[in-house]
Amino acid sequence: MNSPLIDIRGVTKTYVSGSVETRVLHGIDLQVMRGDFVSIMGQSGSGKSTLMNILGCLDQASGGSYHLDGVDTLSLSRAQLADIRNRSIGFVFQSFNLIKRMNVAENVALPLIYAGVGRGKAHARALEELDRVGLAGLAKRTPSQLSGGQQQRVAIARALATEPPMLLADEPTGNLDTQTSDDIMNSFRQLNKERGITIVLVTHEADVAAYSRRLVRLKDGRVLYDGPSQEGLRQLNASHVEVPA
Ligand SMILES: Nc1ncnc2c1ncn2[C@@H]1O[C@H](COP(=O)(O)OP(=O)(O)O)[C@@H](O)[C@H]1O
Ligand SMILES: [Mg+2]
Repeated sequence: MNSPLIDIRGVTKTYVSGSVETRVLHGIDLQVMRGDFVSIMGQSGSGKSTLMNILGCLDQASGGSYHLDGVDTLSLSRAQLADIRNRSIGFVFQSFNLIKRMNVAENVALPLIYAGVGRGKAHARALEELDRVGLAGLAKRTPSQLSGGQQQRVAIARALATEPPMLLADEPTGNLDTQTSDDIMNSFRQLNKERGITIVLVTHEADVAAYSRRLVRLKDGRVLYDGPSQEGLRQLNASHVEVPA
């Protein structure tokens, strides 16, 4: 049971459009153990979203290997990939992606309904998960009646409804003010500590990355740094200090 949850080796990604090929990832190695909390940083265009899409089985690598929870994802059919994605991964997005015409509880219950859970049971599970993120009282509201931070909390509850071992989040605080962003990062930290949820998130803010244990910095589709967040952020900070001529 001590094998990594995520194990990618030599992963490359090349986008092809017409006769133009663009290589975006140039051989990424990344192992993430259960219970880890990882931030991914890098300049715009460095390949963060491309990597997250591969980690989330939303897209497949062009080369290299990706084992998710011991399963070789490159050998899977689309249906099998969807299945492992539904079982293993909860997604949290920058724009929350809640369904506007459904109330909060219905939004959280939706992945369970998709997974074939009966309505009554799905609703009860949804309320339980909402309670854990402190939003049980808002179950009957619609997303438009909530603040940004509350909407993101609902999205986190939805991502956890099927009890996946891992959350993947692409800029989850990108649309939130600093205070709300801190609240959401505290929720992630709590989920990681108390429930052992593995978290991999993309951010461009050092303040956000500071909540994670580990930092991976990408540059032009390569890993520039992979180690403790504190040390990585110190290096990042130092590299931004201008050297006098
Ligand atoms: N579907 C695509 N087709 C072609 N190029 C793409 C596609 N998606 C992303 N890219 C390119 O790949 C590079 C990395 O993009 P992305 O992974 O979104 O970076 P980041 O999330 O770090 O900003 C960018 O140069 C982008 O233009
Ligand atoms: Mg991106």
